[in-house]
Amino acid sequence: MNAPHASTLPTSPMIIDRLARQAEHRGHMGLARSDGILAARGVLDLAGNDYLGLSQHSHVCAAAAETIHTYGTSARASRLVTGTTAAHLVLEEALCELTGRASALVFSSGYTANLGVITALTGPDTLIISDAHNHASIIDGARLSKAPVHIVAHNSIAAVEQALANRTQPEALVITESVFSVLGDAADVETLAQLCARYDAMLLIDEAHGIGVLNQGRGLAAVIANYADRIVITATLSKALGSQGGAVLGPPVIRETLVNSARSFIFDTGLAPANAAAATAAIGVIQHDTTLMKNLAMYRSTFAKGLGITPAIGAVQSVPMVSPQRAVEVRDVLATRGIAVGCFRPPSVPDGVSRLRITARGDLERDQVDWAVQIIAEELAHADD
Ligand SMILES: Cc1ncc(COP(=O)(O)O)c(C=O)c1O
Repeated sequence: MNAPHASTLPTSPMIIDRLARQAEHRGHMGLARSDGILAARGVLDLAGNDYLGLSQHSHVCAAAAETIHTYGTSARASRLVTGTTAAHLVLEEALCELTGRASALVFSSGYTANLGVITALTGPDTLIISDAHNHASIIDGARLSKAPVHIVAHNSIAAVEQALANRTQPEALVITESVFSVLGDAADVETLAQLCARYDAMLLIDEAHGIGVLNQGRGLAAVIANYADRIVITATLSKALGSQGGAVLGPPVIRETLVNSARSFIFDTGLAPANAAAATAAIGVIQHDTTLMKNLAMYRSTFAKGLGITPAIGAVQSVPMVSPQRAVEVRDVLATRGIAVGCFRPPSVPDGVSRLRITARGDLERDQVDWAVQIIAEELAHADD
């Protein structure tokens, strides 16, 4: 089709017209996202990812403040130029010690860590086998890699085995989250590692929701005793560790490869040194005191019991709702009653089911949790009316 002649040009660009129509449709379906302030001061935040409240912890804040005085507020360049500081290297050591992995590389976010590692490790000869519930950053990394991708049914060991056995590519990379972000269920990482060994594949485990929460904070992959040379971990520093940033952990050759070919590492400003120091301090807190993690596990049971839902493995409780509109209504009513909860709706949910997302935070007091459970249960009781 020829471009319209200047004299017949419409008043607004076609792209803007389409965007406006799409926005109207989203609003009509109850699917519009909002970036407004959900958890203002005084509101109990059960929507965030600060699972242990470490973003407010005195040691973590002090480490960040001190590092700002030393290095300023920015890494100021890519890690490969002048953006690497001692704070990054100390954090990489601390992450290795926490997770038991041989090497670590810190990225500016968990998102860029997934993009970087998936694109750097794969090519046309690698089949990517990815769980249907994997996070958007994994999906995007797989797409960007241009490697062939086989999506397998959620948490289906049989489907992974079939894909590995029937592949025509010599190499394979199986990708899973350890604790899934939407349903809050866990992958059978031990069996996946065994399968990868049997079929000569690598296993990438995204521990965004496992580190700082499971196995004294070491993550779910800590249960895998062997296969260290087949396992790569990605982590985010922005959830239980209360900071920002991401990391890839695994055999030293993976780190070396990423430094040389992960575009989201090479062409990205390094993580702010203060965030690196905050994450290191957070690791120190959880290594020396398990109280916050124990509280989290206890409150998780309280929420599950009080709300009549299946207990989650990690910090996030998922409450299925009858429709996206209902989910938004309940979230908004709870906000007026002083509780911020999250709300997952299509297209962010892999199975199309809208949900409330409630975080059991380890830093809360028992009476705050009991109060929240009572209020949320009340609102859920007439959510289907
Ligand atoms: C499973 C998973 N991976 C990666 C990320 C991205 O982490 P970040 O927020 O550090 O970019 C998230 C964040 O929501 C996540 O849930």
